[in-house]
Amino acid sequence: MKKPDYLILVCNSYRVAGDAQGYCNKNGGADFIQYIAEECADRDIDAAVTSTACLNVCAQGPVMVIQPNNLWYGGITEDRIDEILDALEDDEAVEEYLIAD
Ligand code: FES
Repeated sequence: MKKPDYLILVCNSYRVAGDAQGYCNKNGGADFIQYIAEECADRDIDAAVTSTACLNVCAQGPVMVIQPNNLWYGGITEDRIDEILDALEDDEAVEEYLIAD
């Protein structure tokens, strides 16, 4: 099996018990997964896109993480995702959307 170049995680606020709920889920988390997957395909970015449980940075959500680059982005929107993926094509980050340490 060929592993993808990137793993893109989108917080969808899953809790250990019960349905997805929480900031990222309520602010587009589920819809972003398909959007990111389609945008990666359009750009020939070899990425697996998946959702996660709460990443414990809710105040900065909705959140997406790009591995192995360890880029944590907050406040994502479709426009920001476009910018982030454009930058990823150039192996760069969009500094202003990164979650501060
Ligand atoms: S719900 Fe997304 S970081 Fe907590």
